[in-house]
Amino acid sequence: METKTDIQGREEIVVLVDLFYVKVRQDELLGPIFDDVARVDWDLHLPKLVAFWQTVLFGDGGFRGNPLGVHMQLVEKTAMDWPHFQRWLALFRETVDELFQGERASHIKSAADDMAHVIYSRINKVPDPRFDPAKLTPEQKARYTKYRPEASA
Ligand code: HEM
Repeated sequence: METKTDIQGREEIVVLVDLFYVKVRQDELLGPIFDDVARVDWDLHLPKLVAFWQTVLFGDGGFRGNPLGVHMQLVEKTAMDWPHFQRWLALFRETVDELFQGERASHIKSAADDMAHVIYSRINKVPDPRFDPAKLTPEQKARYTKYRPEASA
């Protein structure tokens, strides 16, 4: 049986990012957003996303960007609803699992999951679909009430 190894550094991230965006471009839901709506310059996008994930995993990718702002602009041109993010996440998980196995492989999937929830809810100005105030501990609830007094009524 083939044993997969974990993501070790930039080299593995390049492989992951390349394969992920091959899948994204072939996807009938997501492909057109990249190639027809945003008309992504792939020679720029791929290294940027390698830098992004290298920064998330290892802190040394040197990513400079504004993911929220970029996706916020997309909402004005095309639907960026939860089924789109679910598809994005499914392809991302599938790609990671196809290539790697281990602590960093798990971490990059849960980081992507968290970020998808945040980006989706912020750009569409809707609550995080995962967030249920009823499930907060009393301590979290006190903190939450401080920031969102209108939501605690
Ligand atoms: C429906 C889901 C998504 C779609 C359709 C989408 C699409 C795009 C597009 C079209 C761009 C702009 C490329 C360009 O013009 O250069 C972009 C940039 C980017 N995306 Fe996404 N994206 C999605 C979800 C995500 C998620 C969940 C993450 C993170 C986990 C992410 C991370 C990024 C980053 C880091 C950039 C570069 C931002 C920058 O240039 O500052 N995207 N995305």
